[in-house]
Amino acid sequence: MITFAITDIQNCQKFRKLAEDFNLYDDNHKCKRIDGRRVGVPLREGAVGGLATCEDDPSGYSLGGVSFRLEHHDDVRGRSRATAADSLRSSVQHVMKGRGLWSQELEEEVPRRWEKFGDLVVFSAQRHFVHERWAQAGDVLWDAVCAALKAKRVALRHHIQANDFRSPLLRLVRGESGWVEHRDNGILYGWDVTKSMFCAGNAPEKQRVAQLDCSGQTVVDMFAGIGYFTLPFLVHAKARCVHACEWSPHALHALRYNLERNKVTHKCVVHPGDCNKVCPSRVADRVNLGLLPSSRISWPVACGALKNSGGVLHIHECVPEHGETCSECATIIAGLPERGALLTRQFFSCNRLQDCSFLVSSGDRLPCGVVGRTVAWRWAGWRRWALHAAHSVCEMLPREEAPCWRVVVDGLHHVKSYAPHVDHLVLDLRCEPLHHAVS
Ligand SMILES: C[S@@+](CC[C@H](N)C(=O)[O-])C[C@H]1O[C@@H](n2cnc3c(N)ncnc32)[C@H](O)[C@@H]1O
Repeated sequence: MITFAITDIQNCQKFRKLAEDFNLYDDNHKCKRIDGRRVGVPLREGAVGGLATCEDDPSGYSLGGVSFRLEHHDDVRGRSRATAADSLRSSVQHVMKGRGLWSQELEEEVPRRWEKFGDLVVFSAQRHFVHERWAQAGDVLWDAVCAALKAKRVALRHHIQANDFRSPLLRLVRGESGWVEHRDNGILYGWDVTKSMFCAGNAPEKQRVAQLDCSGQTVVDMFAGIGYFTLPFLVHAKARCVHACEWSPHALHALRYNLERNKVTHKCVVHPGDCNKVCPSRVADRVNLGLLPSSRISWPVACGALKNSGGVLHIHECVPEHGETCSECATIIAGLPERGALLTRQFFSCNRLQDCSFLVSSGDRLPCGVVGRTVAWRWAGWRRWALHAAHSVCEMLPREEAPCWRVVVDGLHHVKSYAPHVDHLVLDLRCEPLHHAVS
């Protein structure tokens, strides 16, 4: 019997990531489609004891804002996944033992998880095949890996490089070309894995973008890469037009290929170069800022890209659980009363702002300007960062045509764990000009 957490299909990727982060996920088994609307995520034995029940529904559970129920199933498909890992283990053991190279310490470097794009399988270079004895086995080891996983190419992934292109440090150990093609949520992506990154961990955010209704809207994607967000905006969210800025020639090549293959070239204007220079202004209903660890340097340009009628910024950032903020925000946040407060121009320093209504309450909920909507966070550092970002953006928005703005936190989304105690978050900031506030 396997215990599954049953979530709705929209939240299942997010939930799976959370379950991984909290070490609840049983990666020996596959997620299971229950019906058209629900998916079961397998949980480790003993995980249930630590789960929190929902306040309003004692038979339901909640993790990171996602509600779910528990069901126990026999899982037949899960066994085939376990078999692939088992088959890999026995193949590599066979190779190593045959050459007198095996020892028990290598056991934990045999992968139980990997990424596979077409016929190319990618392992983590930090965790898998690290010991020098693996290299002594030579090509026969990679032959065995390919045979066990039905692959033709093998790559080892080191960290993403901290250069301007965020290039992946990925080494092919079997195969010649790094070009792969991968279908994700109905979209075909092609790219060279040795030159451009594709982060499977960003899937929850890609899925969320795909569910937005952007019909009639113009979107600016400031760090378009190979089109990770540009394509869901065009194909699923039905954006009228996306302006995609990108400066890496390799990513630009893949982006144009992907636009073509998904038949949306006519709806995308590609702006090659530094987005801080080539980004169009006053055109956007939404601006996507998908750069890690921070896109802060481009916030002023993103504000300038919004139409005079306003729009939404989707700001990605790696946020520490206990991060601090600027002293001005910190003082204001510390002084907030227990239940709710109206932050006026003391918080939003645009001094012509008359009726800013950014409502903040204590605890782990942030009701914010829109009646009936709440934004949850898990850590105080997330809240401090969200408020600080809203504050900073509010200072950057004023322009001759629209001198006063209101900024509302529309959502704060957890995408993945980035490092210990640091999370990749996306903040949705709705920016509205307050024409009536101009005196
Ligand atoms: C790490 S990728 C992220 C892609 C995608 N937004 C995501 O989150 O999965 C960042 C991309 O932004 C590009 N980039 C970084 N700084 C840039 C800049 N100033 N102007 C244009 N492109 C930039 C890099 O070349 C890279 O392709």
